[in-house]
Amino acid sequence: MEMMRVPRIMHNTSVKFCMTGQTVGFVPTMGALHEGHISLVRRSKQENDVTVVSIFVNPTQFGPSEDFERYPRDIEGDTEKLKKEEVDIIFVPEISSIYPEGFLTNVKVKKISEKLCGAFRPGHFSGVATVVTKLLNIVKPTRAYFGLKDFQQYVIIRKLVKDLNMEVEIVGCPIVREQDGLAMSSRNAYLDKSQREAAPVVNRCLTEASELIKSGIINVYYIKEFMHEKLLKEPAVSVIDYAGVYDPDTLDELSEIKGDTLIAVAVRIGETRLIDNMLVESRENPDPDSGNLKNKVSKKKEI
Ligand code: PAF
Repeated sequence: MEMMRVPRIMHNTSVKFCMTGQTVGFVPTMGALHEGHISLVRRSKQENDVTVVSIFVNPTQFGPSEDFERYPRDIEGDTEKLKKEEVDIIFVPEISSIYPEGFLTNVKVKKISEKLCGAFRPGHFSGVATVVTKLLNIVKPTRAYFGLKDFQQYVIIRKLVKDLNMEVEIVGCPIVREQDGLAMSSRNAYLDKSQREAAPVVNRCLTEASELIKSGIINVYYIKEFMHEKLLKEPAVSVIDYAGVYDPDTLDELSEIKGDTLIAVAVRIGETRLIDNMLVESRENPDPDSGNLKNKVSKKKEI
């Protein structure tokens, strides 16, 4: 496994792979790798000749009062994990090589960036869109892999790649969960013992809401109310940013359940913000080839 730090060298290496007809799979990360990241790496290795993983804690996607400084960093541990997975290249750029002095450009995907998490984290998704655009331009992958825990991020990246005519396939991969259902996230490390014990309420809330939808309930106000009540019953949940029922393509809040449905939650447990979601397949539209976004994401079973 080779470590590269300089964007130009990373780019030239990738271009050589392309010129020799090799496919490049890319897993962009901010490090502090867990089984969720590893599942993306394994998928990339299955589907490509070469796998590149980037580790870059991107300052522009953190708000001024957010956790950029204390975001978990473990480059040695991460390197060991990626070596074990037989990753070909890890790309670990310096902040100054991604954002050199005089950097002025910002990529913003309108509308869908302002909903859900975007309403609570102003500027977050333009930070993500900008760095992902840069990373894709540097690494020039055939396919890039993103976890569906960050469903909104996945929708935004698909849109920017389409709108900017970028020749890369964006692959959404299933959420990986702890045994008690908590979605894996580098931020779970912030939770103390009692907060960690309380955190699976998010997954329980989504599971029970999805069961209500599957049982035929189409009244979204009932489901939203149910979700809020369930979360508020857990004393460790200090704030609900959102919990409800959304269109998986537009991310608009639904007024009625008709087709495929995204149920999503963002809460704070203490100071830690946790997000999670589930896609509930329509009872009326079980056609796997109907072409909507939900059907384009991986069909692999959730772990
Ligand atoms: O999902 C993440 O870890 C980050 O948002 C990403 C895609 C690596 C961009 O910094």
